[in-house]
Amino acid sequence: VKLALIYGGRSGEHDVSRKSARSILDHLDPRAYHVTELLIARDGQWHVDGRPVPLAGALRVIQSHDVAFPALHGPYGEDGRLQAMLEWLGTPYVGNGVFASAAGMDKVVTKKLLAADGLRVATGVTLAPGDDDRPDGLELPVFVKPARAGSSLGVSRVDEWGSLPSAVREAREFDPKVLVEQAVAGREIDVAVLQHPDGRIEAGPPLEITVSGGFFDYAAKYDGGAVFQIPARIDDATTRLLQDRAIRAFHALGCRGLLRVDFFVPDSDEPVINEVNTFPGMTAASQYPQMWQQAGLSFTALLDVLIAAAAT
Ligand code: DAL
Ligand code: MG
Repeated sequence: VKLALIYGGRSGEHDVSRKSARSILDHLDPRAYHVTELLIARDGQWHVDGRPVPLAGALRVIQSHDVAFPALHGPYGEDGRLQAMLEWLGTPYVGNGVFASAAGMDKVVTKKLLAADGLRVATGVTLAPGDDDRPDGLELPVFVKPARAGSSLGVSRVDEWGSLPSAVREAREFDPKVLVEQAVAGREIDVAVLQHPDGRIEAGPPLEITVSGGFFDYAAKYDGGAVFQIPARIDDATTRLLQDRAIRAFHALGCRGLLRVDFFVPDSDEPVINEVNTFPGMTAASQYPQMWQQAGLSFTALLDVLIAAAAT
């Protein structure tokens, strides 16, 4: 299979994408795939196997492959813009399509779609560009988040209203549209969803994240500040409930291929969906491949499934 692996990108998660691509390259079966690497620099310049090329040239290269693999996180790569170009090319590609990517990138839109399907999400208020008012109806602590970013970039926890303006300024470095969200009490548990080439949709074993001090921020995600427990130590009924909600979220957003759904799970209440990732991290430290590994699907086999599903 001739595979065009696209990574890097213009978003704040450029480095994370490079790490995801590195571990994808390390785990692809070399007998099954002939890989061309397409790197997008931070400034948007495309490179094919290390050579700078104009966008049109890069698209022609992609078109000459059997499958494209967008291993990109954040705006421009995970938000439907790249996926729309791949649709124009007609080259099959791994993962979510235009709509789910765009909807899943925007935390405000995601919440609306999930809530409309009866899934529980945290109470939140959107600050439109230029809107700096303290939102009504929220109690401290709150989390302030750029609506469209990932890896917790620009996210901060606010424990007193006095620090709201600086938190909003920080979030606006990533997106003028900002979400202020009520903090949710509960254990932090993620569920991986995977679509097989025959269309079957499977949810994996839940993973619990424990962070010592603070929250699961950028440093905790990639510098080893968090501990994962797979499967999470929860009873079977809770496992089934989380898997059911994760698959419902997959359908609510019109997903294809894969999704990671991140929950807060209160002691005895409906789980709250914190966010989703339409192309979850695939780095050596990331949850998604580790969850499938625990379920008996190696990273190499997982990549086979994702690529085979793209081509069907
Ligand atoms: N957005 C990052 C890559 C993640 O959630 O895994
Ligand atoms: Mg993310």
